[in-house]
Amino acid sequence: MRVHVADHPLIAHKLTYLRDKRTDTPTFRRLTDELVTLLAYEATRDVRVTPFDIETPVSPTTGIHLSSPKPLVVPILRAGLGMLDGMMRMLPTAEVGFLGLVRNEETLEAHTYAHRLPDDLDKRQCYVLDPMLATGGTLAAAIHYLVDLGADDITATTLLSAPEGIARLEKDLEGISAPVTLVTGAIDERLNEQGYIVPGLGDAGDRLYGVI
Ligand code: URA
Repeated sequence: MRVHVADHPLIAHKLTYLRDKRTDTPTFRRLTDELVTLLAYEATRDVRVTPFDIETPVSPTTGIHLSSPKPLVVPILRAGLGMLDGMMRMLPTAEVGFLGLVRNEETLEAHTYAHRLPDDLDKRQCYVLDPMLATGGTLAAAIHYLVDLGADDITATTLLSAPEGIARLEKDLEGISAPVTLVTGAIDERLNEQGYIVPGLGDAGDRLYGVI
C-alpha cells in the first residue's frame, strides 16, 4: 500500500480548526468539505484519462478527459458522506456508490449493512472516503469488498489516520490483487483505549451531523 501524507500548510491550518472542540457543526462541515477538495488533488493524481482532440480559437490541440468506465466514489456511511461533495466537486462526472459498515462489538469485525454499488466493478478505479482511519478494520473490509467486485485500483482518502490503522491495513491488504493508495491529511500519535485517534478530532460522524 502506498501512503501519501498531504503535507501542506493550508491542510494543517484547516485540520487545526477541525480538531478544536470549540468548532461548531456548520464550520466543521465546511472545513471538511474544503479539506477534501485539497486532498482530492493528491488522491486523483493517477486518475485514468483518455486523450481527445479539440480546437482552440487559435489551433487544434489534444486534451484529455476522464476515461470510461468512470471512476467510482464510495463514501463509507455515515461519516464518509461529509466528504462526498468535496470529492464530487473535483470529479463531477464520477459515479457514486454507497457502502455502510458497522463493527460487531463482540468479534470487532466490520460487517456490511448497506450497499448500493454497480454489480460489476471490473476495471473501475474506486475512491473510498472515510474521515478517520482508526483501527483500520472498516477500511480494510470496504477495500476487500470493492476488490471482490472487480475494482482494480483503490484510493482511500482520510482526514486523519492512526499508525495502528495504517499497520492493520498494510497487514490485511497483503497480497490483494489491486493497488491500494492511502491519502491522508495527517498521521496522528496513536489510538486510545476507546479506539479514538489521539489527538484526533473526536467522533467525526457526531461532529459532522450534530449527534453528540
Ligand atoms: N472514528 C472517529 O470518528 N473518531 C476517531 O477518533 C476514531 C474513529
